[in-house]
Amino acid sequence: MNDSRVSDLLEFLRFPSISTQSVHLMDMIACAEWLKSKFASLGFEAQVLQTGGHPAVVAKTRHDSSRPTVLIYGHYDVQPIEPLEEWKTPPFEPLIRDGRIYARGSTDNKGQIMAHIVGVGELLRAGRPLPSNVVFLVEGEEEIGSDNLACFLEEHRAELDCDVIVISDTGMAAQGYPTLTFSLRGIAALEFTVHGPTQDLHSGVFGGAVMNPATAAARLVASLHDDDGRVAIEGFYNDVRPMFDWEREAAAVLPIADADVCKLAGVTELTGEPGFTAIERVGARPTAEVNGIGGGYQGEGTKTVLPREAFAKLTFRLVPTQRPEEILRLAEAHLRARCPKGVRLEIFLGHCGEPYYMDPNSLYGRAAFRALERVFGRKPALMREGGSIPIVTTFKKVLGADSLLLALASPDCHAHSPNENFPLENFFAGIRLSQAMIEEIGRLN
Ligand code: BES
Ligand code: MN
Repeated sequence: MNDSRVSDLLEFLRFPSISTQSVHLMDMIACAEWLKSKFASLGFEAQVLQTGGHPAVVAKTRHDSSRPTVLIYGHYDVQPIEPLEEWKTPPFEPLIRDGRIYARGSTDNKGQIMAHIVGVGELLRAGRPLPSNVVFLVEGEEEIGSDNLACFLEEHRAELDCDVIVISDTGMAAQGYPTLTFSLRGIAALEFTVHGPTQDLHSGVFGGAVMNPATAAARLVASLHDDDGRVAIEGFYNDVRPMFDWEREAAAVLPIADADVCKLAGVTELTGEPGFTAIERVGARPTAEVNGIGGGYQGEGTKTVLPREAFAKLTFRLVPTQRPEEILRLAEAHLRARCPKGVRLEIFLGHCGEPYYMDPNSLYGRAAFRALERVFGRKPALMREGGSIPIVTTFKKVLGADSLLLALASPDCHAHSPNENFPLENFFAGIRLSQAMIEEIGRLN
């Protein structure tokens, strides 16, 4: 396609910037440097800045102190590509098919942040004064919990000073349907290993007399939920704020029925906490999920073995006003109390991110609503999102600013999955949305 906006995005997508895998360390740096040059070529003052981990890119327009300042946040890191054999085309060789760009990171988050970069870049090129000052912060550790970014924010507080934050890293209620996300779930990660015998044992010689670590791990995992699908950890729901009536009403008119969720997920039936629709369960109720479980023989055929250890990787999705550290404490106590005899349980506490909630009716919330309505030509949906952007609540604490979450991801974008894709129409709408948003914020002055 002969459009420089699209070819810039394709170039961005060629970097295998997988933050969680150390083999990609240099790719992370190369991607950050590329971004910095891209910003500079569009007329921003841009820098690559060190954090305790992967670098962050900060780019600014020339500031006019009489205008409000918008910080636009995004991330250049992406999720791993496994299982690779399920990709129809290679994840880092972006391809346009049926109006969508296929590549890892195309939606999450390179395509969405690039729409803003291009949007503001076009305003700069037009040469007129911008209605708001703009600062971009594009980080490289969102997909691993943004652990180093809180410290970075404190250090660079003055440079990142802003009135409001704009983020496109969430999903539209339906493809092409304008969506203002006013809440994100928080997250708390925990991994455990069950240690048994000093080595794998013959299951005929020892089975029945020695506790099997894989059985113990399975029992622990199974103990996380009751038969109805509620989380069975004592105290887990203590701080959960029930949905307001208006939130349930807003959820009921979203263009997402349980049947749509079923279809998108590729399952025949939905399950979960009783008394809630799928979209309510995902957006407004907390969960315990097993992200990975393993141990023992995984090769072809059978092998009669009693494995020496087994593991599980868990994450909890949290809602206001649950606190991630407190949830990890409760989960650890729950698991320790249930570990079968004869094995040793080792627990690793992982990253935490607080849930986020803002008032969509605030001054900035309404400005976001207007920008979405202008660009898409219809009233936006108000939605609570199930995913997490760990830094958003820290932004509120450190910079004192709310984040306006302007969704550009399509429901079938396959984020984190094989064949991730981004509709070109969302990219172009995102460019116009970025410009409209900056204008609406400028008008509040
Ligand atoms: N863009 C997502 C957040 C998201 C996911 C929004 C789904 C809307 C729907 C973000 O990049 C993400 O994946 N965050 C991680 C954070 C975690 C690794 C700490 C997530 O939610 O799993
Ligand atoms: Mn993601």
